[in-house]
Amino acid sequence: MKILVSGKNGQLGKELQDIASLYTSYQFIFFDKDELNIADEHALANIFKKYTPAFFINCAAYTAVDKAETEQEKAYAINAEAVGNIAKQCHQFHTKLIHISTDYVFDGKGTQPYKEDDATNPVNYYGHTKWLGEQLALNNNPGTIVIRTSWVYSKYGNNFVKTMLRLMKERKEINVVNDQVGSPTYARDLAEAIMEIVNSENVDTSHLSPLTSHIFHFSNDGIISWYDFAVAIKEIKQLDCVINPIPTTSYPTPAKRPAYSGLDKTKIENTFNIQIKGWRKSLSECLQAL
Ligand SMILES: NC(=O)c1ccc[n+]([C@@H]2O[C@H](COP(=O)([O-])OP(=O)(O)OC[C@H]3O[C@@H](n4cnc5c(N)ncnc54)[C@H](OP(=O)(O)O)[C@@H]3O)[C@@H](O)[C@H]2O)c1
Repeated sequence: MKILVSGKNGQLGKELQDIASLYTSYQFIFFDKDELNIADEHALANIFKKYTPAFFINCAAYTAVDKAETEQEKAYAINAEAVGNIAKQCHQFHTKLIHISTDYVFDGKGTQPYKEDDATNPVNYYGHTKWLGEQLALNNNPGTIVIRTSWVYSKYGNNFVKTMLRLMKERKEINVVNDQVGSPTYARDLAEAIMEIVNSENVDTSHLSPLTSHIFHFSNDGIISWYDFAVAIKEIKQLDCVINPIPTTSYPTPAKRPAYSGLDKTKIENTFNIQIKGWRKSLSECLQAL
């Protein structure tokens, strides 16, 4: 069984590459942006014709949240239009599509972990394009599985954990926002969850009704602020830097962020029997791997 993976050099793509050798019954074919630009409809059609894959895992995305406010066409082309085209190919070739989305489809006004069928209302353009991508992925290929995740980090790429480690080594004091709360996700854990889904006997979800029933939430367990996350990094690495909690209003960004983005993971746990690790345990594992 062939599994095609787009966006192989991103955080999730790299983690999937690292664990691929553990899954010997599948043949993985990984693509970077030059090998498969998902925004190129013809390239997509050629790849599907050539490989007729059993699975397509879409790890490619436009993830520059602030830049998306000004690079709207590019963000739309990659996060929405291209996802619709991937889904069309998957439908034609009976390929199971696993697509990754985000907590930023919610407006952050909630106070309880968001469930998959809670109302969406993105507060920035990136979130809007990812929401459109979900719709196109599901409407063009009803068997698509969409996994919404949040605050992704790993030893690869640019992320909060690596930025904090650098700043805490460079500076005596840093400020971190404490009024945005959510759940960190170690990309390794997400990669493993995706492979659980691929392996699962429950993978045929076509009996479920369309749209929200094919959406699943995944992150590590526990809801914290960015400030709490930074303090934990400091504690685990035994660094000396002083960390000051600040409000979002003191750290303005071009794109607005949801204040609350906890995700309820009950559905993915029950449907695919996935064990969710606590955020601190996974953070320690990542810091060890770094
Ligand atoms: N990072 C987070 O905090 C976070 C939170 C919630 C959800 N997510 C979602 O989780 C998924 C994985 O995120 P990630 O953190 O692994 O992202 P990432 O590290 O930014 O990786 C995305 C990859 O996609 C590639 N890419 C961009 N445009 C492409 C195109 N047209 N064709 C093919 N590849 C393209 C990028 O290449 P270049 O770098 O060369 O452009 C990059 O290697 C994404 O769907 C993202 O929206 C992420």
